[in-house]
Amino acid sequence: MAWITKNSATMTIERREQPYLTEEIRADLTRRILPRYETKMAALLPVLHEVQHHAGYLPHQALLEVADFLELTPAQVLDTASFYEEFFFTPVGKYIIGVCQSIACEACGHQQIVDYLRGKLGIEPHETTSDGLFTLRCMECLGACDTAPCALVNEERHDLITIEQMDAMIDDIRARENGRG
Ligand code: FES
Repeated sequence: MAWITKNSATMTIERREQPYLTEEIRADLTRRILPRYETKMAALLPVLHEVQHHAGYLPHQALLEVADFLELTPAQVLDTASFYEEFFFTPVGKYIIGVCQSIACEACGHQQIVDYLRGKLGIEPHETTSDGLFTLRCMECLGACDTAPCALVNEERHDLITIEQMDAMIDDIRARENGRG
């Protein structure tokens, strides 16, 4: 859970000319998502997922546009989005490595893995490498405590992870992304 408190009265929101919820995206949401829910408020989470899928994260301008689209207050949208660690409010890397830090994984060595990744990637948890490739995160229980320690790499869960596996995975990704894989 990540509550974000902001002084909304004085907060400046960066805006770009092009809306995040383009006419095309609004039409798609209206056709595919809204009919599944009784109220517009009930569609908030799937709409946020769609917007993040398109934009890569949820800029505040996009949150305002979601509020307008669903006829909610900006506070309702931000309160909901900031409750979930799956939503990002700043740009993230192409590969998001989320190491589980809950109790079973903690008991099975998650800290050694996180420490190794901090050194390997040269970033702290919740930071992104300067090449934009990796974001390191610590996450709550991934629902696979019997195969701890676990990590989520983008949307794929890896069980019984080891330092060696994570090391090889990062090297593979780097080689692939640099055209050597
Ligand atoms: S504690 Fe890590 S998966 Fe449950």
